[in-house]
Parts: sequence; C-alpha cells; structure tokens
Amino acid sequence: FLEFRSVPYGTKRDGELVLNRYSSLVTNGYEFPGAQAMLYAAGIKNQEDMRTKPQVGVASVWWEGNPCNMHLLDLGKTVKEGLEKNGMIGWQFNTIGVSDAITMSNQGMRFSLQSRDIIADSIETTTCAQHHDANISIPGCDKNMPGCIMAMARHNRPSLMIYGGSIKGGYSERLRQPINISSCFEAHGAMMYGKLTTDDLDDVIKNSCPGPGGCGGMYTANTMATALEAMGLTLPGSSSTPADSPAKYRECLRAAEAIKVLLEKDIKPRDLITRESFENAMVITMIMGGSTNAVLHFLAISHTADLDLTIDDFQRVADKIPVLADLKPSGKYMMADLADIGGMPAVFKFLIHAGLINGDILTVTGKTLKENVESAPSLDPGQDIIRPLSNPIKATGHIRILKGNLAPGGAVAKITGKEGKSFIGKARVYNGEEALIASLEKGEIHPEENTVLCVRYEGPKGGPGMPEQLKTSAVLMGANLRNVALITDGRYSGASHGFIVGHIVPEAQAGGPIAILQDGDVVTIDSETNQLSMNVSDKEISARLKKWKAPRMKVNRGTLAKYAYLVGDASHGAVLDMF
Ligand code: FES
Repeated sequence: FLEFRSVPYGTKRDGELVLNRYSSLVTNGYEFPGAQAMLYAAGIKNQEDMRTKPQVGVASVWWEGNPCNMHLLDLGKTVKEGLEKNGMIGWQFNTIGVSDAITMSNQGMRFSLQSRDIIADSIETTTCAQHHDANISIPGCDKNMPGCIMAMARHNRPSLMIYGGSIKGGYSERLRQPINISSCFEAHGAMMYGKLTTDDLDDVIKNSCPGPGGCGGMYTANTMATALEAMGLTLPGSSSTPADSPAKYRECLRAAEAIKVLLEKDIKPRDLITRESFENAMVITMIMGGSTNAVLHFLAISHTADLDLTIDDFQRVADKIPVLADLKPSGKYMMADLADIGGMPAVFKFLIHAGLINGDILTVTGKTLKENVESAPSLDPGQDIIRPLSNPIKATGHIRILKGNLAPGGAVAKITGKEGKSFIGKARVYNGEEALIASLEKGEIHPEENTVLCVRYEGPKGGPGMPEQLKTSAVLMGANLRNVALITDGRYSGASHGFIVGHIVPEAQAGGPIAILQDGDVVTIDSETNQLSMNVSDKEISARLKKWKAPRMKVNRGTLAKYAYLVGDASHGAVLDMF
C-alpha cells in the first residue's frame, strides 16, 4: 500500500513525543499556508493547537433512514467531545452506507456488498487526503464493520472501532410474543400460507424495531462486531453494549484515551490484524453461532492486510470449536440479553480461561485481551445463554466449507445441527431470486418431495453484488417447507436458517458448474463429508459447459458495472483489488 510521508515515530518537539505525525506536514511551517487557513476556518483555535495537536478522523457510517445507523452521528459527536477533552482535534466525517434490511428488494440488495468497499474507499480517502493522524470509525449495519476495518488496514494509522450497538427486542401485543426483524419475514411467509392474518403481520412489522441499533440477534452485524472485538480492534464490551444505553456514550468518551495510547505507542491496525487475531475471530464466530458472511469479510480484511487466511482455515476451526451461544436466529436470546449477564467481556474471560481464545493478543487499549477482561464479571453459572463446554449446542462449528463438482472453488453452509447431516434432492433451477419467489408464491414447490432449489446468476459478478437470498430463506421457513434445501452463488443472511448453501465458487456468471445444473439433477449436500455435488459425470459437465454461453452482464454503467468488472470470487472475499 502507498507509504505516506510522516514524521518518524519517536521524534520529539519541545521534549514531547510528536503525535501529529501526518497532519504536522501541513500544519507546521509555511509550506502549506492555504491548508492552515482552511483548518482555522474549520475550527482550530490557535497556532499552538494547529502545530501540536493530533488530528483524529471520526468516521460515522451515518444516515437517518435506518435504525442500525441513525444514531451514529450523535455517537461521533460524543467521540469528538472526548478527543477535545484529551488534547486532540476530532474531525467528523461520514461514509455512505446501506441497510441490508431495507435493500431487501432484489434490486437494492445488489448494492449491499459493494457498499463495504465504498465505505473502505471513502474512509481511506478522507484519512489519507486530509492527513489524519488516527481514525475512530463508528459502524452500525452489516457491511459497515468490514468496510471500516479494511480502511484501517489500508491507511494503517492508529485506529479503533466503536460498534453502534444492538437494538432492543420488540414485542407484539397481538401475538403476545417477543419479536425482532426476522419475525417480519417469517410472519410474511406464515401469512402467505394462511397461518397469520394481515393484521397480525402489520402488528409484527410495526413493533419489530423499537429504536436505534443493529439487528439484535447473532446476525451479520453482531457477528462482525464480536469477531472484531476478539481481534482487539474495539474497546472491551463494544460489541455487546446496546445502542441506546448510557454505556455506549461512555464508550465513545473513553475512545479518546485509547487512541492517545495507540498514538503514543505507535500501535497500528496491522499490528492488531494478525494471523493470531484472525484465529480468535474465527473461534468466536463458531462459539457464537455467527453469520456465514463472516467468511467473506474475514477473507477480504485478510487480503487487505496482506495476510494469507484461506477459506479452508474456517473448516479447520469449525472442526474443533463448538457452538455455545443460544442466540437468534437459530437460538433463543438476543444480544441485549447477553449484555445483561456481563456481555462479551464475560464471554472472553470464560473462553480465555478455557484455552479457546488467545488472551495474549494486543488490543486498542495497548493491553492484551486478557488484561482487558480480567476484572470483568464472570458468567453466572446459572445463565443459559452461553452453554458450558460440557453441554454445547453443537459439538463442532456450524460453518461448513463445502466442495465438490458443484463448487470446485468452495461454498459456505451454515449447519446448526437441526437440519440433519445430509440432504439429497432433485434440483429445481432458477436464474435469479425473483424467479424463485414467483414460483413459491404460486405454490409450485411441493412439500412432500425433497427439492434442492438452486438460485444462480446471483454471485459477485452475476448479481451483480452477490445479493442475499434473505427473502427466499425466510419465506421457506415461514411457509414451513422443510423438505427443501437452497443453494446459490449469492449470499444468504445471518437471519437465515435451514439447509442452505451459498457463496458457490466459481459462480454461474463466471462459468462455474452451477451454470449447467438442470432441473431433475440430483444434488447432495453432505455436512459430514463437506460435499456439494450433483450426480452429473465429469464428461457430461464438460459437454454441458461447452454449450453454455455467458449471459450478458446485467449492468453496463455506474457503480455496479465497475464492481462487476473488478470483483474477485467469494472464496477470496469478493474484493476489488485482487491484482
Ligand atoms: Fe442493519 Fe441488520 S439490517 S444490522
């Protein structure tokens, strides 16, 4: 990555360590008088501040129309206040973002994954162009977190992340039960099959999201937040502190002290993003029953940090790490419930003690993970959100890396243990999710026959943007179609459950074998042997592929066209700079 000119670490000015190593290139001397004039206009008070104070970018992934992100500008204001109290200058800026729940339409969802890379691009751009000395990023929704961390790995200036926090649980008076965002999709499926009324569904929709915060189960946002805390990239407890709690505002104020330590010790993101910290990230993802999107995002962060994490590392970790957390979507509890029993610091304390999490990794406090959590309360022996090792929810990890003649480059499945060990069924093939939804709405899928629904041309290039098949999987669950499995070269959400395989590589648009799967072929998904295969011989696959022609790319102009042109495969994180 581009090396920027900076004052060497350890340089002193008037006997003090120089902390404004990047910004001082424009704020000291008279080489850039115009820059200084503009910085005075933006709020720097005097020449002393101009010349000596570190400038810290405060990047909120803020926009109003989404609970996951609506409060992040306010959190950023609190961070700025803390920075000023601690002798630094905070410059707030925003990135774009999208809400995965609102992108839900097949068109909108295509912009979701690529927003990760735009977030990374925009934070990298502002940090480097404006000579920021450090960065504090405040993400909320799913793609925000990897975007922020990819930016940190690129600019590699002292940085930390503050997760925007989880939403509170909702409640339906009409159904007399707690609800959350995925209740909406499942209630919709139930309504389509006559199990709920539209009034029931309206009540669920109105009451699922009672305020600010990311989706409160172990969906993608909380998966990424807990993993990044396990990597040492946040303050202790950031991933479990609820969005609208006073503790979240206290965390924002405390961030300034941490960033000062990072500046003083010259601890940079690439000192924290390491093979060891990725090991922690993968372990905690298995323990918590996290989203399969973690595979994609960890691979992308690893690539950005020039590390060599591979898709096979996930299988290695899954083989030895159990699922312990009873959290939604497949379990009972929400992140707010975990916060009530000590949150992630208590979980890390337990796992470090059990030898599953490496407590020696360095964190943004300048201390080790173990030092950060040793004074945290321990998990109460009476709680049942985090199971003991002697009674896991699943003895090995729920994330499976499948390979076979349908996915020679790999595919990702989430196996909770409730689905059974394998699924064999006849393929029913759809070019795109909309075709499948139309088929479901016509009631064309019959519950008595084992069917593998294949949704293709939804990969990074083909979608483009690898849209999540959230609507399909939730409708399937809501409709109680238990004899179906779903395979796709697109993604599926952390909210999905059931026998579902995504991220198939190579994707259909790139001429992967999934492109020549036909209705009636028999597909086997085996989570014990990690196979995803079709009963089609190699000879027949070659013959069908010879006749296959790549369809025209769906988009020719604009951001999605650029994305489709540049994006690499999902087994390498679907990054745009795989050169
Ligand atoms: Fe934003 Fe779930 S839609 S965290």
